[in-house]
Amino acid sequence: MSSAFLITFIVVVIVIVIMIVALFCDFVKWICCQEGQSTTDDQTQTITIYAQTVERFLDDMAKEKPIRFSPQQLESFTGKYSRKLGSGGFGIVYKGKYPNGVELAVKVLNSSATEEVKEQFMAEVRTIGRTYHKNLVRLYGFCFDANLKALVYEYMENGSLDSILFYKNKSIEWEKLHKIAIGAAKGLEYLHHSCEDIIIHYDIKPGNVLLDSNFSAKVADFGLAKLCDRDRTHVTMSGGRGTPGYAAPELWMPFPITYKCDVYSYGMMLFEIALGKKNLDITMSESQQWLPIRVWEKLERGELCDFMGFNGVKDEDITKASLLCTVALWCVQYFPEARPSMIRVVQMLEGSVEVTTPPNPFQHLISSGIGLAVCSQTTEGTSENSYKDSTHIMKKYEIELAISS
Ligand SMILES: Nc1ncnc2c1ncn2[C@@H]1O[C@H](COP(=O)(O)OP(=O)(O)OP(=O)(O)O)[C@@H](O)[C@H]1O
Ligand SMILES: [Mg+2]
Repeated sequence: MSSAFLITFIVVVIVIVIMIVALFCDFVKWICCQEGQSTTDDQTQTITIYAQTVERFLDDMAKEKPIRFSPQQLESFTGKYSRKLGSGGFGIVYKGKYPNGVELAVKVLNSSATEEVKEQFMAEVRTIGRTYHKNLVRLYGFCFDANLKALVYEYMENGSLDSILFYKNKSIEWEKLHKIAIGAAKGLEYLHHSCEDIIIHYDIKPGNVLLDSNFSAKVADFGLAKLCDRDRTHVTMSGGRGTPGYAAPELWMPFPITYKCDVYSYGMMLFEIALGKKNLDITMSESQQWLPIRVWEKLERGELCDFMGFNGVKDEDITKASLLCTVALWCVQYFPEARPSMIRVVQMLEGSVEVTTPPNPFQHLISSGIGLAVCSQTTEGTSENSYKDSTHIMKKYEIELAISS
């Protein structure tokens, strides 16, 4: 055998051995992978999904984009819906926690009224997804599934303003209430004047102003909001919206609707913040039932400050409380054009512009010439006599609506 042949034979043998060893290593590696995967398959998948979701959650939060969750995820975040926070016209709200520890409020929407719910759902997701301000409740995400429709919000530790205003066991210093009024006004100001498209809320009321751990106010629930072009200031409405007692006259009459309907509702809420009572109290005698009229009567007689005093407001706060009432009277003007913008409202509340005496917001009741049986306890003066004739309208459009809620 020649030496050349021997060398070639040895080289071929070495190459074959190397190839066999390499193939064997690959094979061993593949076996290991397969074994590892089969033993931890579920776990790995879950971790991967969570890691991806957390990553996307943070990413989407940074991009201010709502994230879509699955029903299984929401069930896990809420501990199988074990902690109910409250309920409203559109569903039940539960407390939850995200895997990264962030607390959540999950609003599960009633599925029965499908079309209505769908409309509200879509409007809310789209609207809030584009909106970010420190006085607005943040929408983290949503679930849209055949069996579950839900919205996932930032959790607000101190619940809603109505529980503080109307349930006496939850008292709060008046100064904080003043700040809450300004915070809610700034949230609305942002919706009306700083978004790409004007956002009308349609349902401003104490139940839709939520409070965080520092009692900072955030406006919640854009479910009834509707986007409209800045150029088109009027929105056509197919049905009645808002909550009786807070809804502006143009919402239940065939008049054009603008963002000023929120200013009206804000004004109604402002009376309640300043005086700590509901704007309509049907347990009172008829003349005392509707707070705004009583406030106006007191203002006309120059007795607004005295009127504030009996309601537990400290002396030093009485001037501020009467300022809030005067601003509220501006906000509830019958004609939308006569109401200030929310920019102006914030300036008035913060004291950066002078607050003049508003015109009579109830003049239309007098001009209509329809009789008024709201018998005021006092019998003198023009204002009491003027209102005497307007019960019919009050009942038809405002008080009756509120009672029927
Ligand atoms: N993000 C949140 N954080 C903490 N609690 C919340 C949150 N959202 C809602 N809640 C609680 O759930 C309750 C019900 O809220 P929901 O919005 O369903 O009803 P509502 O505001 O009373 O009426 P509406 O359906 O007209 O908005 C609130 O009063 C509040 O106590
Ligand atoms: Mg609400």
